[in-house]
Amino acid sequence: MIVSGRALGQLSRRVVPTRIAATAGTTRGLADVQVEHGRGEWKTYGDIDQYKLGMYQIKCFNKISPIGLAQFPTGQYDIRKDAEEGNNAHAILLRSHKLQEEDVPHSVRAIARCGAGTNNIPVARMTELGIPVFNTPGANANAVKELVLCGMLLGSRRVVDGINHMKELGKQGLARERVEKDKSMFGGQELKGKTLAVIGLGHIGSQTARDAYALGMNLKGYDPGLSVQSALRLPQALELTDSITAAVSDADYISLNIPYIKGEGGTHGVIGPEVISHFKPSAVLLNFARGELVDSDAIKQFLDAGDGRYVTDFPDDLVWDHKNAVVLPHLGASTEEAEDAAAAMAADTIRDYLESGTIKNSVNFPATSLPDRPDHSIRFTVVNQNVPGVLAHITDAFAKENLNIVQQVNQSRGDIAYNVLDIDTTGHEDVLCFKNVQERITMTEGVLSSRVIYGAPGMGYAKNLDGQYFV
Ligand SMILES: NC(=O)c1ccc[n+]([C@@H]2O[C@H](COP(=O)([O-])OP(=O)(O)OC[C@H]3O[C@@H](n4cnc5c(N)ncnc54)[C@H](O)[C@@H]3O)[C@@H](O)[C@H]2O)c1
Repeated sequence: MIVSGRALGQLSRRVVPTRIAATAGTTRGLADVQVEHGRGEWKTYGDIDQYKLGMYQIKCFNKISPIGLAQFPTGQYDIRKDAEEGNNAHAILLRSHKLQEEDVPHSVRAIARCGAGTNNIPVARMTELGIPVFNTPGANANAVKELVLCGMLLGSRRVVDGINHMKELGKQGLARERVEKDKSMFGGQELKGKTLAVIGLGHIGSQTARDAYALGMNLKGYDPGLSVQSALRLPQALELTDSITAAVSDADYISLNIPYIKGEGGTHGVIGPEVISHFKPSAVLLNFARGELVDSDAIKQFLDAGDGRYVTDFPDDLVWDHKNAVVLPHLGASTEEAEDAAAAMAADTIRDYLESGTIKNSVNFPATSLPDRPDHSIRFTVVNQNVPGVLAHITDAFAKENLNIVQQVNQSRGDIAYNVLDIDTTGHEDVLCFKNVQERITMTEGVLSSRVIYGAPGMGYAKNLDGQYFV
């Protein structure tokens, strides 16, 4: 059984044919399969010295949690840590590194950020190049939820004022003497039996609601885009409302767990004078989402007027030292566990994409869940511009080689279309040659790249770069 993959060498027209034995367990009784490109006018990805044949290479920017990296089986993955040389990387894993296009070799099929935001990645350009960008939604949800629960307690019991007071007494040597007398200054209330309104019932909001219910709280919630997964986490007793105003009226605690979206129809200042006018005077607002969601003037007026509280992990120039505000550093996701979970999720999405073509948690590619590849078939994927006619060219190319498509998935999102085709090898008992068909498909106008997902890891990737064939 021979599967020969792309040839390697410096960026040149030099031909370096390679023949790689397929890994055991991937053959499923197939005839010999070739995806060799060792001929003709083509270019190569990078330096062969930097590449371990038969392994996927992952280039890491930033320090990635070892628990995340452990998701990549040794022997199948070559991990290049801390941006160390990786000219033939198949995927990039990063946290906060500001990725430049030059950081992305032609060989890269996917990029994953260990975290939710992707503004350190040039996503639009990666889409043009046909590279999916993944993130890790919800990986830090437990960390943030725990700080929201902590925030509810901080907003209830004047814990922070009490700590500061004890420090002052301690400095004066009066702590022991006054500890009982002064406690009446810091009285509070309990969470049990109070009403929590959760605005945004996604990963964080739904978990907050679930745990608040376990603490004996009554629940209201508002989320016009509630997902099925989040809905399944919600306690049945939660009352869903049809507006933010309806949710916050009569609530003792209000937890804000929505994204910040700039511009018209967005969420800038969504907690403004009108919504705040429906707050109970003693309401506690918890903002562990984004500072810009809350109108600073309006929340200051609210805090000045009564006994309400504002607890947040975002800075606010007007209320940072207000006696009724608790302003923390941006600590919501700052736990070891959240970093581990994000790195593990990012590694999983990369593995899914490289090994089976599945797309989950991408910010620019369509979600694509795939059935198993049938026996006696080879998986072929194509990334193309979402324009009419490309699919017909792809199927035509297989027909011309007398290859039958047994299973096909076609998804699109915005300007990108993604095709996964499982090709029957029955009747091709000797050598099945994908070389011509892959080249023909890849060089079709509108196609950005193609992959043969079969055999030795890392083989069978071809790109159409402005009309030049890279393999
Ligand atoms: N403090 C921190 O360190 C920290 C860490 C992670 C996330 N966050 C913030 O928390 C937010 C929520 O995170 P998540 O993981 O739960 O996100 P998520 O995408 O799982 O959930 C957000 C939910 O908000 C809903 N929503 C959107 N606009 C809304 C609106 N106007 N009114 C009501 N609901 C609305 C959506 O339908 C979705 O269900 C993030 O957007 C982020 O800004 C903060």
